[in-house]
Amino acid sequence: MEIKVVAGDIIKLKADAAIVNLFEGVERPGGATAAMDEALEGAISRLIAQGEIKGKAREVSIIHTLGKISPQRVAVVGLGKQAQFTLDRIREAVAEACKALRRIGATKLTTIVHGAGAAGFEPEKAAQAVAEGALLGLYAFREHITKEPEFKEIEELTLVDREESRLAPLERGANAGRVLAEATNLARDMINQPANHMTPSHMAEIAADVAAKWGLECSVLERDEMEKLGMGALLGVAQGSRQPPKFIVLKYRGAPDSERTLGFLGKGLTFDSGGISIKPSEGMGEMKSDMAGGAAVIAALRALAELKARVNVTGLVPATENMPGGAALKPADIVRALNGKTIEVASTDAEGRLILADALSYANKLGLSPLVDVATLTGACRVALGDIASGAMGNDQELVDRVIKAGEEAGEKIWQLPMYEEYKEQNKSDVADVKNTGGRYAGAITAAQFLAEFAADTPWVHLDIAGPAFRDKERGYQPKGASGVMVRTLVNLALAME
Ligand code: BES
Ligand code: MN
Ligand code: ZN
Repeated sequence: MEIKVVAGDIIKLKADAAIVNLFEGVERPGGATAAMDEALEGAISRLIAQGEIKGKAREVSIIHTLGKISPQRVAVVGLGKQAQFTLDRIREAVAEACKALRRIGATKLTTIVHGAGAAGFEPEKAAQAVAEGALLGLYAFREHITKEPEFKEIEELTLVDREESRLAPLERGANAGRVLAEATNLARDMINQPANHMTPSHMAEIAADVAAKWGLECSVLERDEMEKLGMGALLGVAQGSRQPPKFIVLKYRGAPDSERTLGFLGKGLTFDSGGISIKPSEGMGEMKSDMAGGAAVIAALRALAELKARVNVTGLVPATENMPGGAALKPADIVRALNGKTIEVASTDAEGRLILADALSYANKLGLSPLVDVATLTGACRVALGDIASGAMGNDQELVDRVIKAGEEAGEKIWQLPMYEEYKEQNKSDVADVKNTGGRYAGAITAAQFLAEFAADTPWVHLDIAGPAFRDKERGYQPKGASGVMVRTLVNLALAME
């Protein structure tokens, strides 16, 4: 889909449909909606008075214009109550409108820049939210469906504003929104892809393709190099699988004069069967999404390069399967991580923290700082926060606050869980330095406390995305399946640290 920005009058521009809006509980529409209403001889206000159009969040009402104005249809999207209006409401509203219009065969859309009028958002931010809402909402994973789709794709979305003088910020915003949404959709494609396609090798190929296209540096550590380095925890997880592990290193250098390089780490578990501590068969297929953190890191680096962010970021993605092959790790095995610490493998299903232990140690070896890891790490975090919010835990409150704020701007909810010292006791082992499970209670936190041992003194935040990474129903701009969460949060964070 192409996104354009033009100055003009939305009533006079030809389109299959024009998108305007309404706040909940408003009887007389304002701004562009009012002008549209007048041109349609009061059709919109009549429907409001009759109660058909309420302005509720995610509501879409389609009106046929019967030749009265240039657009063939008008879609009035609800923005919810004005007091609760956010940029995320714009993303949701635009997504719902685009989906509804695609269903009825529209391909060329125009829209006002929702939020940039009376609501008072910066035009740039509002335009970004419009572009994100459209591109994220229209996403579908159809790669393996050979049947023709039932509807045509939307070809064009034109953002229209009366003020010529606002064109520059609107164009900047729309472009940023496109870059962020396309990167998020890349992550979604990787995550939705089943594990027979999205192997560690294929992940590494995608990282190399991204690097070649956007001018990043990509290197991949192979099994023998991991052995030489002493990545015993990652190798332990990989040894039960026929697929060779890959440790992906993606470097973006947008600030060559700066000494600082941020480290983004992502769990790249392309399939988590649980290993010998095997998972129940029901729902196991969802564990194709256990590389969502790794996909988010690769996609975020692509977006940063496309936006030419003035910051240095290195992405680290340990990629492997967790399978119960004959050579697999067994419960009670002891492995030695890159930083020399020994780990008792109490459960082979707590494999994410094993591969991240080596990735965090490697990040420290490279001198990256600060560090942010993204991982579908614990069922406990999903139990605690559902698919609404990701959990944040770390060793540096200022960094945690920055990450949460970067998430807020993206509409990605992040909730901090406490890292009290007392939780560490649950990870104590009788036979090694630490053990990879802390029991049933506070499972998200004990997993983070385990990672903290390997982050050591470097400022670090861990994002547990087990809940929001993969959804069982669609809502707003979030499709069923992979959500691509944290791509936009990571980019916002890096941009805020320029
Ligand atoms: N990948 C899973 C966590 C997960 C569960 C993500 C559900 C998304 C949805 C992780 O590797 C895992 O198996 N964690 C175990 C840890 C336990 C053995 C300590 C869990 O949460 O049950
Ligand atoms: Mn597991
Ligand atoms: Zn896992």
